[in-house]
Amino acid sequence: MNIQRISELERKYALESLDGQFETHNNYRFVTRLEKTFAEKTGTKHAVAFVNGTATLHTALEACGVGIGDEVIVPPLTMSSTSLAVLMANAVPVFADVDEKTFLITAEEIEKKVTEKTKAVIIVSLYGLMPDMDAIMAVAKKYGLVVIEDDAQCFLGTYKGRKAGTIGDMGSFSFQASKHITSGEGGMVTTDNDDYALQLRRISGLGYGSITMKKARITKDDIQDPAYERHLELGWNYRMSDVAGAVALAQTERMEELVACRMEAGRILEGAMEGCEWLIPQYTPSECVHAYWAVTARIVHPKASWYDFRRKFMELGGDGIYAAWKLSYLEPAFRNKSFLGREKLMEGYTYEEGLCPVAEMLQPQLLQFKTNYWDTAEAEAQAEILKKTIRYFDGI
Ligand SMILES: Cc1ncc(COP(=O)(O)O)c(C=O)c1O
Repeated sequence: MNIQRISELERKYALESLDGQFETHNNYRFVTRLEKTFAEKTGTKHAVAFVNGTATLHTALEACGVGIGDEVIVPPLTMSSTSLAVLMANAVPVFADVDEKTFLITAEEIEKKVTEKTKAVIIVSLYGLMPDMDAIMAVAKKYGLVVIEDDAQCFLGTYKGRKAGTIGDMGSFSFQASKHITSGEGGMVTTDNDDYALQLRRISGLGYGSITMKKARITKDDIQDPAYERHLELGWNYRMSDVAGAVALAQTERMEELVACRMEAGRILEGAMEGCEWLIPQYTPSECVHAYWAVTARIVHPKASWYDFRRKFMELGGDGIYAAWKLSYLEPAFRNKSFLGREKLMEGYTYEEGLCPVAEMLQPQLLQFKTNYWDTAEAEAQAEILKKTIRYFDGI
């Protein structure tokens, strides 16, 4: 495949949006079309657009009633927005360990962390691979927990034929620049639940009472009435701008080809590791389709370190290799409980080494190879360099 990431369609829609002059009646034209198209493509009843994929998680938690002192179970091996969103909602992140082969949160580890205070779980489809959702939904049902999917890295990935964003109570996506589809920044929440959809809209729109499922935006008649009462409840301004909506709509219309291109790059790069005993890629169970936001493997070479491998790969012409994020609870903000006053809610909770031993073992070993090659030939060239690097370290 050889495609353009930003095509004529994105340019056309962005210009049309600007030509609307940001007049009130034009101001959410593209966002509205984006939400409809995204819901159709994902196969959910509702999709609500956001300013980014962290605001989505924060609002999803508040939309289902998570609040002060509630516990939310999250994996530690992920980009930290997953757990920061829990803190934003004044709730307590409780970390559950991940599986050694898939690198994903599991039902067993979630169940170990359930207490009377647990209200929700955020699962992460890490690198584009969904966890064992049937088992996770069964545990959630047993304890009455809400399940939020963090699918920021998993557009069109599937589990037993079901798409990311359709199994949990809500699905959160990010359109940040490194993601499968992008508008620079942006996000989306999908849900089949009418009450959650209304709350998502209302909380992300400053708590405006005029926002209903039928009428998403304030009208001129509303705001030209001095007696008009705006705020039904507390909310944030997390709305996506219409220009971002225009770009995201074009990307959503092209979602299949954009995702297919990254999936192809993913398969090519992962294929280059076949047979190597000391590079162990993330294991994809047969019931899943991996969306390959990244190809990730553990390095367990007896003599070569993570840094040695990256240095040699780049010396041979390879693009950079990313490291996995530090485990969220080992970031200084957690270690030092530097939570903008919320530390008062965290008495009795400690964030330190030993909490999730499997994730702690995996994180320093993980090599993340990027897949955003819009010309498959480039991914093939990188795969050849990867094979050469493997041969080099086979010989030492
Ligand atoms: C797993 C995961 N969750 C959440 C986010 C946050 O998304 P955003 O950067 O759009 O806020 C990201 C990416 O940036 C992510 O990779």
